[in-house]
Amino acid sequence: MENKLIQFITVFSESFENNIISKITISFKNKENSENIIDNEIKAIYIKLFATKEGVKLSFNFRYPTKDITKNYTLEEAKELFNNLLGKQFLQADLFLTHASYHLIFDKKGKSKLVTKEIEAPRKIELSHNKAKNRMVEDTPFLRLLGVYSAEGKLKTDKQDKFIQINKYLEFFSQAIQSSNLKDDFVIADMGSGKGYLTFAMYDYITRTLGKKAKVSGIEYRQDMVDLCNQLAQKAEFSGLSFRQGTIEKSNIDDTNVLIALHACDTATDEAIFKGINSHSQLIMVAPCCHKQIRKQIKPQGELSLLTKFGILEERLSENLTDLIRSLILEACGYQTKVFEFINSEHTPKNLMITAVFKGISEEKKTQKIDEINALKAQFGIEFHYLEKLLGWL
Ligand SMILES: C[S@@+](CC[C@H](N)C(=O)[O-])C[C@H]1O[C@@H](n2cnc3c(N)ncnc32)[C@H](O)[C@@H]1O
Repeated sequence: MENKLIQFITVFSESFENNIISKITISFKNKENSENIIDNEIKAIYIKLFATKEGVKLSFNFRYPTKDITKNYTLEEAKELFNNLLGKQFLQADLFLTHASYHLIFDKKGKSKLVTKEIEAPRKIELSHNKAKNRMVEDTPFLRLLGVYSAEGKLKTDKQDKFIQINKYLEFFSQAIQSSNLKDDFVIADMGSGKGYLTFAMYDYITRTLGKKAKVSGIEYRQDMVDLCNQLAQKAEFSGLSFRQGTIEKSNIDDTNVLIALHACDTATDEAIFKGINSHSQLIMVAPCCHKQIRKQIKPQGELSLLTKFGILEERLSENLTDLIRSLILEACGYQTKVFEFINSEHTPKNLMITAVFKGISEEKKTQKIDEINALKAQFGIEFHYLEKLLGWL
């Protein structure tokens, strides 16, 4: 490795540990470089630090001629990227610290120099702990069209909760995509798409942020919402986004690789999961609501019967069991499943999310999982889960 490059990466790494980095820029594309580590279209990279629950990460903003793509990296990943890019695909890196700046500059023959500049007034570090500074999406044309932002680019007061929900959703969606095998050509069915906020957000994220192709279909019972969303999709020039009137139960989504159903009522969530499993979707994401099915059946056995002594606790227990069994069924069908809080209940009471990424399962493991589900049901006196019926297991 080039000596100056080693020095630069060492300073970067130490500064990261000491939390004194203000920003980093990578620029001056090397036109003579033939070996591209990242997309050759990228003109420059702007890097900032931000705080996550798992620690500080680096947000890389890749600047293309007509778009920006943001990706997050750990320190080790960033170091590797610097090592691969600098002096090859890019000829300059500027590291701005609180008290100084370091400038690594390569000439076309590959010779490098490292220039240090002290500064008199220390720069402030604005390490974001608040996700507000690291939104997945902010003022963009589609958010204006949907009325989340005003025409002047202001977030509307009565749309703040929706805005938070959209961003939180995109965060989970992007993570789920990363853990799946999906790379290109997303074919997404959003069941019960309603006013389409999250449907538009997904389309925008895949096409604009990730720069990939997507065919996103919203399936919605209400014709008025379908018409409105189709008009807006046209205005937004989202040519791969369309909405159609229909029910989750009757819709045909055979070519889909991502199944989404957010806040579909009661067993409509099971209908959607069933469609996802049947169409071999790589990724299934649901945020269930209005859990009624298990409540009607639940009768915990033995000492567990105390769990239903109080109405509210019985209701919560039924909801939890409904979603637990959904998740276990998905696992038995070969999905790796996660259950977590979608968004704090101060924003919406419907706050649980189940994501399932297809990984495959052996017949033996599947039988074991089904036995576990049956044992659980027996303990709680549950005769059937609607999803089992749809899958023809009963
Ligand atoms: C609570 S809204 C959620 C909208 C959107 N998914 C979201 O999370 O913002 C539920 C939507 O699903 C639609 N819906 C409910 N059951 C349905 C079904 N069986 N088939 C198609 N659409 C359905 C409703 O008309 C409504 O617009």
